[in-house]
Amino acid sequence: MELKEITIQAPQTSEEAMAMENKYGAHNYHPLPVVLDRGEGVYVWDIEGQQYFDFLSAYSAVNQGHCHPKIVAAMQAQTSKLTLTSRAFYNSNLGKYEKFVTEYFDYDKVLPMNSGAEAVETAIKIARKWAYDVKGVPANAAKIITCKQNFHGRTTTIVSFSTDVDATGGFGPYTPGFEMIPYNDLEALRKALNDPNVAGFLVEPIQGEAGVIVPSEDYITEAIKICRSANVLFIADEVQTGIARTGSLLGTCGSCSCKTNCERKKRNKHADILILGKALSGGAYPVSAVLADDSIMKVIHPGQHGSTFGGNPVAAEVAIAALEVVRDEDLAENARILGEKFRSAMNDLISETDLVSLVRGRGLLNAIVINDTPDSSTAWDICVKLKENGLLAKPTHGNIIRFAPPLVMTEDQLGECIAIIRKTILEFSK
Ligand SMILES: Cc1ncc(COP(=O)(O)O)c(C=O)c1O
Repeated sequence: MELKEITIQAPQTSEEAMAMENKYGAHNYHPLPVVLDRGEGVYVWDIEGQQYFDFLSAYSAVNQGHCHPKIVAAMQAQTSKLTLTSRAFYNSNLGKYEKFVTEYFDYDKVLPMNSGAEAVETAIKIARKWAYDVKGVPANAAKIITCKQNFHGRTTTIVSFSTDVDATGGFGPYTPGFEMIPYNDLEALRKALNDPNVAGFLVEPIQGEAGVIVPSEDYITEAIKICRSANVLFIADEVQTGIARTGSLLGTCGSCSCKTNCERKKRNKHADILILGKALSGGAYPVSAVLADDSIMKVIHPGQHGSTFGGNPVAAEVAIAALEVVRDEDLAENARILGEKFRSAMNDLISETDLVSLVRGRGLLNAIVINDTPDSSTAWDICVKLKENGLLAKPTHGNIIRFAPPLVMTEDQLGECIAIIRKTILEFSK
């Protein structure tokens, strides 16, 4: 059969672009009505050339800012040399990246994947295999403990342990072997780990999608201790919280402001299995990773897990560049300092209006809670107004607005953004 010739005119207006997406794309998202065409640093521009502050950063993937020149240069150089070999052969970039990323995060080994959900799936498989091969759990009896209101991705196994009815409804049957406990509840964790068949505890250091739920200061370090004493793997999903977003290199660091590997292992701030994605590429390319020490990673043998694209040469070069930017531009420190200023400004705003009841977060992963019911459209309407005033953010869970700008933001730019948010909210409060 001859393939027919297809010529598509690029959309000339935002209206045309939205109409095309709505007609030809599955309706699995509900985007804000803005069509982005270009990005640089903390700014994005729509088709008509209107400039906006990006206050979402592609759900914390673009921590290093849009089109960071160092990351783009690394990608461009590699794409004209070699893009994909599969893992059937070695490539000259992967080993270098593996050495770099394991030294950066202080683990023995890395297993490279592409999306965050794939990395979570990988961590689950490693934990189950470790339970059978090392811990001695009987075949097919391994259990993973997860938290209510979690978000770990969209695969059928991952939604099997979601409490979000939109994520789960209509997608059964669900994968067995998971038990959900309340988040930020050490007693519930202790109880759940009484079962000798538990392989791991999978948790987000801050629950991002749930509305930036920050647990108590000692939750993560105590949970790590509880897991250690029960011979259960502590699995940190840092897809959203990792890589400087929360003002430290990792969310498990809590409010510790160290810049390097500061003996996390000794201080119970080191997950047995670390899951990274999103900002591992600065948003330039799908790159995710699972890191663990040899005693755990050794359970995976050839043929038992993999991905055609995982560990490809472009991903390797992009990830090295992205992590170098985080270190060289001290993005964790910037996120910590600007985050404090942001929450302080939001608290000032809260004292002036009843429309916002709360601000919470750490570093530059923050959210405000709008004083209305979760099924109201108020947060959505505020985000539409913010857009009209030049700032892009998105509601999560109805009445919560997440604020997560690129970490390369300057103090002056943050000041401009705070002014936009203030003006918009105060206009709404009238
Ligand atoms: C904590 C966490 N884990 C996993 C994922 C899934 O990542 P991806 O969308 O790249 O599959 C996300 C995405 O938002 C996330 O926030």
